[in-house]
Amino acid sequence: MATTAPAVTTGPAGMTAPAAGPMLTGRVLTGDRPTGGLHLGHYFGTLANRVRLQQQGCELFVVVADYQVITDRDRPENLRQLRTSMVLDYLACGIDPGPSTIFAHSAVPALNQLLVPFLSLVSTGELDRNPTVKEEIRLAGRSSVNGLMMTYPVHQAADILFCKADLVPVGKDQLPHLELTRSIARRFNDRYGPVFGLPEALLGEVGTLLGLDGRKMSKSLGNAIALADSPDQVAVKLRGARTDSDRRIRYQPQSRPEVANLLILAGLCLGLDPQQVADRIGAGGAAELKRVVTDAVNDVLAPIRARRAGYGPDDAVEILRRGSARAREIADQTLAEVNAAMEMG
Ligand code: TRP
Repeated sequence: MATTAPAVTTGPAGMTAPAAGPMLTGRVLTGDRPTGGLHLGHYFGTLANRVRLQQQGCELFVVVADYQVITDRDRPENLRQLRTSMVLDYLACGIDPGPSTIFAHSAVPALNQLLVPFLSLVSTGELDRNPTVKEEIRLAGRSSVNGLMMTYPVHQAADILFCKADLVPVGKDQLPHLELTRSIARRFNDRYGPVFGLPEALLGEVGTLLGLDGRKMSKSLGNAIALADSPDQVAVKLRGARTDSDRRIRYQPQSRPEVANLLILAGLCLGLDPQQVADRIGAGGAAELKRVVTDAVNDVLAPIRARRAGYGPDDAVEILRRGSARAREIADQTLAEVNAAMEMG
């Protein structure tokens, strides 16, 4: 069921990079949990591609998945601010609120109502077996698991199906959710008549961009370069990145993973292979490597910072409000079709 994105090429270390490819059209839905600032891993993994799909003429929907935040934490602090700063991250990356729609789960009642019939279409065994949910439960390390954690993949199906998305750009970890979404659409149609198409996953071969300590780049691990970081913050973080004392810079992911990771990051920013970046630096050592990476990262972030500066916090609130109003119209329409098919409503 997964379509390997024709619009996506596999770059160094399996990272996706926007590349020339056939035009894709249709409706695209994707989103993120507002749990903290988006970082370079998000940018190269998915955000740059979303903007590319938007530029190709796809109708882009981005969900600020606020209801997914409460799957593994009790009462997130500053949720309002986390939501608007994620909207600002999107806008800064070039998601254009004219053609594209940014909305929040919690502002679209009819989307959430789809959860009720959808839950009747899945078995508890299916929910128990979802490998991504199992992994999230393991990572959360909590003494009990709430009901939303077990059922949020069904809610995510509502995210995708309320707007009848054709394409869902995701990383590999989200494929079980896409498979479930397709099952729900198929079962609904079989039981009540044809309402939903079957969305396709647009699978980027997203490798994991490592953070500055060699672990996966992650906000919660404190090893990420955030899209909102200032040039100085980027410089300080990269100065602290782990390297080694061999002055000859080579791309050797097995034996020198930290150096390799910085070369990958520079390569992504410069549109070069990590090997080519290594050749440029030669015997310049870690200091030169860090200088190159810092400049490359700051060059990528410069236009993102410039776009961000064009928006105030009130703009993000207003854009989310307008996007949510548009999502509500579409969700109301889909819910009406669902109710009609089910003889409800
Ligand atoms: N579960 C996704 C994540 O954790 C976020 C998300 C919510 C999503 N709804 C979605 C992704 C719908 C794709 C489609 O990253």
